[in-house]
Order: sequence, then structure tokens, then C-alpha cells
Amino acid sequence: MKENYVYFLDTSLRDGEQTPGVNFNTQDKVQIALQLEAWGIDVIEAGFPVTSQGDFEAVQAIGKAVKKATVAGLARCNKHDIDRCYEALEDVPNRQIHVFIATSPIHREAKLNMTKEEILDSIKEHVAYAREKFDLVQFSPEDATRTEWDYLSEVVETAIQSGASIINIPDTVGYTNPTEYGQLFKHLQDTVPSFDQAIFSSHCHDDLGMATANALAAIENGARRVEGTVNGIGERAGNTALEEVAVALHIRKDFYVMETGIVLSETKQTSDLVSRLAGMPVPRNKAVIGGNAYAHESGIHQDGVLKNPETYEIITPQLVGVSGNDLPLGKLSGRHAFVDRMEQLGFEMSDKEHVNELFKQFKDLADKKKLVTTTDLYALAQGQDISD
Ligand code: KIV
Ligand code: ZN
Repeated sequence: MKENYVYFLDTSLRDGEQTPGVNFNTQDKVQIALQLEAWGIDVIEAGFPVTSQGDFEAVQAIGKAVKKATVAGLARCNKHDIDRCYEALEDVPNRQIHVFIATSPIHREAKLNMTKEEILDSIKEHVAYAREKFDLVQFSPEDATRTEWDYLSEVVETAIQSGASIINIPDTVGYTNPTEYGQLFKHLQDTVPSFDQAIFSSHCHDDLGMATANALAAIENGARRVEGTVNGIGERAGNTALEEVAVALHIRKDFYVMETGIVLSETKQTSDLVSRLAGMPVPRNKAVIGGNAYAHESGIHQDGVLKNPETYEIITPQLVGVSGNDLPLGKLSGRHAFVDRMEQLGFEMSDKEHVNELFKQFKDLADKKKLVTTTDLYALAQGQDISD
């Protein structure tokens, strides 16, 4: 394990594909996997091979195509699942299996109909079985955040003793919050005797809008791996958006003091590809890669950004592969942004009275429209009637 380094596992192709309405074909999946590799993802969770022949073949194809990243497959605590995962990844040098079973009271009683002891026995048997076939075994207690903490410690210790070297703590239903999730990692550190023999990982869902904050809280409390998806796609409200975590760790490295392997300049391209192949447009106000993330509309902000972008931009657009910022002209825009845009369009703006008149006409127009376009500005400069 590298010091002060956070490993990134991307599960866009597995948990991300659980987004209602999203269905990647094998070609899409390979294309995304190669882009994830270019983005610097350490582990690509390629799929859940037992679920269908198509998923099995996609995991195989990703294993063949990817050269640097580790390729992971998901399996329940079930020998057939583990065998299928092994068959799909047999020829892949950097492979990992991800074995899971639910541990919370509601899942034990309503879904699995298993006692706490039976679950511990199943973990012992199946993690050990997986370890016979894979050098790297990850174990997840599904719905960990709604599991009794003392029992969770026992579960985690059992998994490590049985051969797991990565322990993932899923917030399966997006129930926790940063304070509590951080305390849970601290609790595991204090109570699991073999804690130091495994890498701990966060896996959060966004039901309460806290998936990124929760992942960062886990990192603050000892997690050295983060799981999530591109653009936060996933079941229900989605997963932790990995681009948000990567950029937060970079922008606030004074606070987190952590490195990652993420090539930030590939972020926009990765986001665009996943958005296009998933058929899910990125909301304009989405952090880091939304269309408005580098746009400033109010006059005060535009004036500040024109004087020095750092007044209102903590992330430079170029950092994440976006060409530049945008100052859309609307009714809140001020004189500075208006004059600047007119000069960019090649108009002489030195005559104060003329500028006053044009700016007044611009404001009158802006009151009637959401945004004033370049065509509007040409018409205005050429004295055309733009009143409606
Ligand atoms: O959210 C979850 O619990 C999962 C597990 C399979 C790790 O995706
Ligand atoms: Zn999940």
C-alpha cells in the first residue's frame, strides 16, 4: 500500500449500470474501461459475471483490453458466483474478486433469513474459497451502515482472517452522514484486531445527497480507497461521483494531504463518454463537470472574474479538461462583462456616451430574455431594432 495515497475503484460498469434505464453493451463497456484507465483509475469493477452471459463476456473483454488497472468482478457469498468470476478473469494478470453478503438486521431477517452466526460462517467459507482462486479478495458487508457496530467489527475481522485484504464499508442505502461514517471507520480501526492487514474502502450512495461528503469523511478516518462512479450514476440517487472526490482531494490537498493516480485533465472527457453511452445528460449545476460549473452570470461575479478568475473560481476549468470559463450575458450582467464581450467581438467601445446607450439597450433586451446571444449583440451594435 502506498503512503498517503487514495486508491480509486470505479464501479460505473457494475453499480453504475444498476441505474434504471442504463444498459451498456460490451463495446460500450470496453470503451469506458479504456477511458477509465486513461483517467488513472486503479481498479475497474467490470461487472457481476454470474448475472448473465452478456455480463460475463463483458468482464472477459475488459480483462483483455485493460493493461494497467486491476479488473474486478462481483460475487455473492456463493461458490457458483465465485467460480463464474474466476472463469471470467482467469487470464487477467491484475485481477480482483469482490465478495459480499448483507449484515444489517433488516437484510438478515427480511432478505436472507440468516442468523448472525450463519452469516459469519458463510463469510469464512466463501472468502476462503475466493482466496484460493484470487490473490486479491475484497469483502463487503452490504448495508454496513445499518449494521450493529460490534457485530460489524466481528464480520470484518472474520473476513480478514479468512483471506480478504480489502474491506469495503458500503452505505448501501445512502443512510449515513459524514460524522457518523467517519466515526464508523474510527470504530473499526479501534476494534478490529487485524485492521492493519487490510485496506479499508468507502462505498457510498447518494440518497440523502451526502455520498461525496461521506467518502471524504471516510478518507479522513483511515480509508485509503474510495469506490464510486463517473457522474455519480447508479441505483436510485446514484453513487459517490468520483470526479468530485478526485477534485476535492486535489483542491484541498492542504487539508486531506493525499495523492491519487487520477489524471484530472481527462475528467471532462471521461464524464462526456459515460454521459453519452449511458444516455444520461449531466445536470448543468453538477459540481466539477456540469455545464454551469465554470459559468458566471451576475455582474459582481463577472467583474471579479474578469479582474482575476480566482475571485470566484476555486477550480480552473482547464484542470479538469474544460476549455475555459463562460460569462453568459443576462439581466444580472454588469457593464464590465458587456464591454469585454463587445470588444472581443471587435467593436470599438471607447466612446463613453455610445457605450452608455448600448449598455442601456442591452439591459432593456436582457430584461425580456433569459440570455443575450452573440447575434443579439451584433444587432445591437449595428443599430438594428431589437426591442422584441
Ligand atoms: O451498495 C452496495 O452495498 C453494493 C455492494 C454490492 C458492495 O454495491
Ligand atoms: Zn453500491
